[in-house]
Amino acid sequence: MSRYLITSALPYVNGVKHVGNLVGSMLPADVYARFLRMEGEEVLYICATDEHGTPAEVSAMEAGMDVREYCDMMHERQKDIYERFGLSFDYFGRSSSRENALLTQHIYRKLNENGFIEERTIRQIYSLDDGRFLPDRYVIGTCSKCGYTAARGDQCDGCASLLDPEDLIEPRSAISRSTNLEMRESKHLFIRLDLLASEIEKWVDSHSDWPRLTVGVAKKWLTEGLKPRCITRDLSWGIPVPREGFEGKVFYVWFDAPIEYIGATWEWANAGREPDEAGIPSDGSTHDASGGSGERDWKSWWFGASDVYYVQFLAKDNLPFHTVIFPAMLLGTREPWTVASYIKGFNWLTYHGGKFSTSQKRGVFTDRALEIFPADYWRYFLMAIAPESDDSDFTWPMFATIVNKDLAGNFGNFVNRTLKLTASRFGGASGDSGTPALTGVIPAGGQWGAREERLQADVKEALEEYRKCLRQIEFRKGVLALKKLWSLGNLYIDERAPWNLLKTDKDEAAMVLRTCINLVRTFALASSPFIPFTAEKVAQALRFSPEEGTGSMAEIGDLRVLGPGRTFEVPPVLFKRIEEAEIEKLTMEFAGENV
Ligand code: 2FM
Ligand code: ZN
Repeated sequence: MSRYLITSALPYVNGVKHVGNLVGSMLPADVYARFLRMEGEEVLYICATDEHGTPAEVSAMEAGMDVREYCDMMHERQKDIYERFGLSFDYFGRSSSRENALLTQHIYRKLNENGFIEERTIRQIYSLDDGRFLPDRYVIGTCSKCGYTAARGDQCDGCASLLDPEDLIEPRSAISRSTNLEMRESKHLFIRLDLLASEIEKWVDSHSDWPRLTVGVAKKWLTEGLKPRCITRDLSWGIPVPREGFEGKVFYVWFDAPIEYIGATWEWANAGREPDEAGIPSDGSTHDASGGSGERDWKSWWFGASDVYYVQFLAKDNLPFHTVIFPAMLLGTREPWTVASYIKGFNWLTYHGGKFSTSQKRGVFTDRALEIFPADYWRYFLMAIAPESDDSDFTWPMFATIVNKDLAGNFGNFVNRTLKLTASRFGGASGDSGTPALTGVIPAGGQWGAREERLQADVKEALEEYRKCLRQIEFRKGVLALKKLWSLGNLYIDERAPWNLLKTDKDEAAMVLRTCINLVRTFALASSPFIPFTAEKVAQALRFSPEEGTGSMAEIGDLRVLGPGRTFEVPPVLFKRIEEAEIEKLTMEFAGENV
């Protein structure tokens, strides 16, 4: 028996994320977490805002706020949006927490004790007017290779060359535009990834089941050779480096960010209490893997936890850090920290053939998305086109087709016609006599025949296929299997035509409709990882608790759980069709400023 630890890449605190960010890590992680919980597994799903680094500082400055206040505000804003998307984190933490600071300093100390840290002096650009060192991307100027005038010190967007700040003509600060810059020497710490390379390679090789994308990126990095990598920065916003001579320096945001997966679990366990440094396990002690001292025992998930299956979800640009650097940081402590069992990487979601762009306001951002359509429309659509094996393109016509065909047509229509027809013929009470909604009673009568037995077998088979896809973390195949399941309902009701049977054999019609109502229950439960809000609406309308008669896919698929005599309500239309005119309007609205 494993317990499942799930993390999704930590979104940067600055700015509201677009729906491409959502489908690249948090949303699939949520679908997986919900699916496993439905299967009765013990799951801990952790995420957090990634709060350190220059982008947060610069955004705070632009907003005229203190950086901590800015992070407080943006953390809350993001948290609220994710809640409204139905992301079921067990905890959504903050990398600027005290827990993360203690853990980051601990991991650094262990790496240092084990000979994996070295000091080096490097030359960096210092901006006299900003009073700070500038990260390469915050130096801008003219590209010496192509003449593009807004090239950044790390890369030119004009010719895609990788650059050093020295390659720029007339360099200036991206923060203040000041040209008053000079090179200064500064002492920094490097992690000796080169010394850990063979261990990492062995670790990667031991996971033959990982997706091709994940292994491909890891192997590329390993083949190119791992070099020592700088883990500190000359900044004030970050986690202080506990080392003589490093006063005023902090860890590089990328060093402390993945440690926050652990930090956030500790935050979850602390529930607001002050963390105690002594809470970090000491050398060599392994944790009682049975779960240990209490319900919220963060160490039982992260330290000496041999029964934990740990799955990470992230977009492909984050793969090097998760397949190579973060595991090297943990292995180099020589302590038994939990490392990933499976790493699910995603390709890019593009927007009408181009990039989502925050600066050009191109594409759909998560806050605005929820103003236009309910969360389940987005959840289902994004997972149906998830960039799993390749990049994938968001277009509004595609959005409308998928919502109209799958959600409104296949699933919604079946629910609606089943419940409406039953309510109108069996014990229905219409809304105008004081009852708030059309209600019905599940009718008695009739016997299952060969067609129903076949339907039951087909449903179980489709569910098993669906279950297999999600166990293997294959979402697009999972969506196909779900659609196949839903269409069994429409096939059955069209074939049995209860509207005709009602005229000739009322008992038979009752049995068919009863079976259809059970299908509605099965569909809602099975779909709940993708469309949890709708599943909940259906559960309320049919007045069953989602736990009733479930615990395995076999029970979810049982078409005789809801027996005769139970009352139900006909819910309002579950999914509205999206019309052509609306698609055109949305396409225009989100085209960006350049169109
Ligand atoms: O790319 C990003 O959005 C980063 N904030 C991801 C960090 S993931 C983890 F390492 F924390
Ligand atoms: Zn260039």
